Amino acid sequence: MTERTFSILKPDATERNLTGAVNAVIEAAGLRIVGQRRIHMSQAQAEKFYEVHKERPFFGELVEFMTRSPVVVQVLEGDNAVARYREVMGATNPANADEGTIRKLFAQSVGENTVHGSDSAENAAIEIAQFFTDADIVG
Ligand code: TYD
Repeated sequence: MTERTFSILKPDATERNLTGAVNAVIEAAGLRIVGQRRIHMSQAQAEKFYEVHKERPFFGELVEFMTRSPVVVQVLEGDNAVARYREVMGATNPANADEGTIRKLFAQSVGENTVHGSDSAENAAIEIAQFFTDADIVG
């Protein structure tokens, strides 16, 4: 089943000039980058995006991190793209991530873990709509 998911290459990726290296792993996994834009997230955008975590103790640090430097927002397309990308990303905490995953390869800590990927098809649609119009996605 071809589907789409939403991805963010986080500030630790842009700061270390790793966006191409991360994209190579994404593409090698069979996912196509059908939308991509580099933005500097505002505080309001980051707070809205991570609203589900607003009561968590790490929320303030998370918003500060996500607005520290530019990010690359992406729409990825492929067979079971949501689950496939979660697999390619690896565990939230890079210490627990499998070999070959993006977080195992590049992430420095649970807070600065290089990539975001939607956790369901429903959330993917919501997150894509926060950053892309249909015209910006070319499959
Ligand atoms: P979460 O949705 O649990 O993980 P994932 O990104 O794998 O879907 O958490 C969202 C982000 O919040 C996570 O990527 C990094 C940050 N975070 C922390 O900084 N500390 C934590 O203890 C957790 C669980 C998440």
